[in-house]
Parts: sequence; structure tokens; C-alpha cells
Amino acid sequence: MKAGPAGEYGPGAPVGSDGALSGAGPLTAFRAPPLVSGEAHVWFARGGDPGRFESLLDAEELARADRFVFPEHRARFVVAHGLLRSLLAAYRDGPPGALRFVEGRYGKPSLADGAGPRFSLSHSEDGIAVALARDADIGVDIERVRAMKDRDDLVARFFSEDEKEAYFALPPARREQAFFRLWTRKEAFVKGIGLGFSRPLESFTVNAEMPARIGAAEAAPWCLHHLSPGDGFVGALAVGAASVTIRGGRLSCG
Ligand SMILES: CC(C)(COP(=O)(O)OP(=O)(O)OC[C@H]1O[C@@H](n2cnc3c(N)ncnc32)[C@H](O)[C@@H]1OP(=O)(O)O)[C@@H](O)C(=O)NCCC(=O)NCCS
Repeated sequence: MKAGPAGEYGPGAPVGSDGALSGAGPLTAFRAPPLVSGEAHVWFARGGDPGRFESLLDAEELARADRFVFPEHRARFVVAHGLLRSLLAAYRDGPPGALRFVEGRYGKPSLADGAGPRFSLSHSEDGIAVALARDADIGVDIERVRAMKDRDDLVARFFSEDEKEAYFALPPARREQAFFRLWTRKEAFVKGIGLGFSRPLESFTVNAEMPARIGAAEAAPWCLHHLSPGDGFVGALAVGAASVTIRGGRLSCG
């Protein structure tokens, strides 16, 4: 992502097959690039001051925020939803506080007026990813790579037979990376189709290698892309289209 002549940030660098999100710019200088059919945009941020975003949230979002027990969890929620609103507003060229959301049957949020863009939000620790598409279903998932004692158990319980076979054939030292790639690819897909965890995770298969691939029964074509947001995060983007060009980058929320 390069600064334009007026110090504005856009249009986002093309995201290659390694999924690297390069370049960085402040959210305050963000100017939404045109989001055309056949493209998906993905923006990644870490941290941010909740005080800057709180006034953008509606009563329902604030009520959800206030249900968190720990202040840092509340702060992360406020920043994630404030960033989502800020980005959507930039793409729509309108005020972030005026956006209204509705939820699908399984919880997938969308814009109430149906005008788009379509979007997906993911947060893990203080990392936030927002993915957007003009007219394709989209799902994004990021995870902070971290030690997990129950990793092998999760694979045994929730992954498909092919995924289990591939994962347990790996030497233990390579399993952590494989787990997070598999997990984020599966989660990006179930978020893309809008079913979330209502879609049994063992009912379809992804791979842990590059490029990312998916085998699922859905009639519509889906493509999966690996994301490397940096800072120890890994992610995946699922788009309901046969092919897609991805652009994006990293934003600092201040
Ligand atoms: C969405 C889901 C797949 C993954 O969530 P996660 O790993 O905890 O967290 P992520 O940060 O990656 O994604 C959460 C975001 O996905 C979005 N989301 C929620 N339900 C979704 C769905 N069915 N499809 C797509 N996106 C969804 C929301 O924007 C949510 O953000 P919010 O919680 O701050 O409002 C999972 O929470 C889910 O299936 N939720 C819906 C059903 C449910 O709550 N089931 C209870 C557990 S069985």
C-alpha cells in the first residue's frame, strides 16, 4: 500500500499466493479503493484506542461490548466493530455511525439496506481482519498462532478424515502451522457460506499446503486463499466465486 499524492492510503497492494499483506497506513488517511466484481479486499489491523471508536457503535453493539467481563475484551470488541464501521463507511462514502446491520439465521451480519458491500469480520486477540466483496459471498478468519494443548484433540474431533490423515502424518514440529492453516481455511469457508459452526467442520476438506484448496459439496464455486497478515497471525479468505483478485494491506488504528 503506497501513499498517494495527497498522503492518502490506497488502493491496497495485490495479495499474492503467499497471502502476505504488505504496506501499512493509518486508518485516518484511508481512502477506499474501487471495489469491483471479481475482487476482494482485505484489511488487517492490530490494537487501537477504543475511545476513538466507541461513539460509532449503536446501542446493540455497546450492550454486547458491556457484557464482556474483562476490560481488554470489551476494548477489542469496540475497536473491531469501530474499524468495521469505518471501513464500510469509507467504501460507501457515508457516515460510519449511520450503518445498520441485520443478522442471518446463523448469525452472519450484513448491511440492512442490502446495498453492500458484502463483508466478513474476524478478530483474534488484538488482531482484526475485515474482508469485503462487491457481489460475492465472503468469509475471513484470522488466528494468532499460539501453543494449544488440545490441538491434536481438536483435529481428531472436528476435522475430516482426509485432513486428519494429512495432519497426523506430519512430524510434530510441523503440526502447529498445519493446524492453523486448516482451521482458518475451514472457518473462513463456514463464515463465507453464513452457516458458521452450524456447518459440521468434518463435512468438507481443505488442505494445509499452498495454494489453499477446498473440497465441499456446495453447488456454487468457492475459492480459498491463504493470508499472512504478519505479527504471528495466519488467516484465510473464502470467496464464493471461481476466481478472485485480492487486494489489501495493513492499517494502523492509532
Ligand atoms: C462465526 C463463527 C464461525 C466463528 O467465530 P469466532 O472464531 O469466534 O470469531 P471470528 O472473530 O473469526 O468471527 C466472529 C465474527 O463473525 C461474524 N459472524 C457471526 N456469525 C457468523 C456466521 N454465521 N457466518 C459468518 N460470519 C458470522 C460476526 O461478525 C462475528 O463478529 P462479532 O462476534 O464481533 O459480532 C462462530 O462464532 C459461529 O458459528 N457463530 C454463530 C453461531 C453460534 O454462535 N454458535 C454457537 C457456537 S456452536
